[in-house]
Amino acid sequence: MRAETNSQGHMFTISIIGQKGGSGKTTIAIGLAVAAAKVGETVVLIDLDPQANATNWSDRREGENPVVISAQVSRLRQTVETAKSNGADIIIIDTAGKNDSAAIEAAKVSDLVLVPSRPQMFDMETLPTVRSLIRAAENDPPAFVVYNTIHPQGSRIAEELKEITASFCGMEPCPVHLSERSSYAHAPSSGKAPQEIDPEGKAAAELERLYLFTCEQRKKGKSKHDEKTRRA
Ligand SMILES: Nc1ncnc2c1ncn2[C@@H]1O[C@H](COP(=O)(O)OP(=O)(O)OP(=O)(O)O)[C@@H](O)[C@H]1O
Ligand SMILES: [Mg+2]
Repeated sequence: MRAETNSQGHMFTISIIGQKGGSGKTTIAIGLAVAAAKVGETVVLIDLDPQANATNWSDRREGENPVVISAQVSRLRQTVETAKSNGADIIIIDTAGKNDSAAIEAAKVSDLVLVPSRPQMFDMETLPTVRSLIRAAENDPPAFVVYNTIHPQGSRIAEELKEITASFCGMEPCPVHLSERSSYAHAPSSGKAPQEIDPEGKAAAELERLYLFTCEQRKKGKSKHDEKTRRA
């Protein structure tokens, strides 16, 4: 099957979860999906949010990569299987903020979980519970906090937050954070991602780095998998 023989060696599933609304889950899902599609991956974005922001976004765009599928949580496994058999290299799952059981179901089928958080107490204080939710998934996938809407001149603050993240919530920080930039807010209205309205812009560069981070995680996951197969 093509999914098993893509350039990176195996299909990879990332879910974007968090308890807080408006933390940037859909923004990151869209940005990563377009970053992966740009380098030739076949991308399926599964939208588990009844609000359907990602699905509406895809209705406003042209082209078939990423494919966006609006799905119900009860059909998630089947939807992932269908995406796999249709040749997806990467699946990105966008979730609703206020649905813990959906978040667990998404984590269960994922190789990597990203948890966006604004750099504010009301967001950050939910992170320990999110960590527990992810642990409730038997596969307990690696999970990283992605700080979002950092002030463009606030990278020192971002670095300080990253230093304390593991100790207060039990999740590692993603080394890449996203800044508050107008292109993140403007691009979706025309069915685009920031990379498509300003390819040389800073948001594009941030999303590219975030995508590369997910590629590193994918390689790590793959070498662990190969190691297990060798031992078996
Ligand atoms: N880095 C950013 N810079 C500027 N605006 C941003 C950024 N990230 C997100 N936004 C804006 O913040 C709002 C919330 O973002 P988004 O919809 O991605 O959050 P969400 O976590 O998916 O929300 P929900 O829980 O409702 O699904 C949107 O209007 C989005 O355009
Ligand atoms: Mg959303």
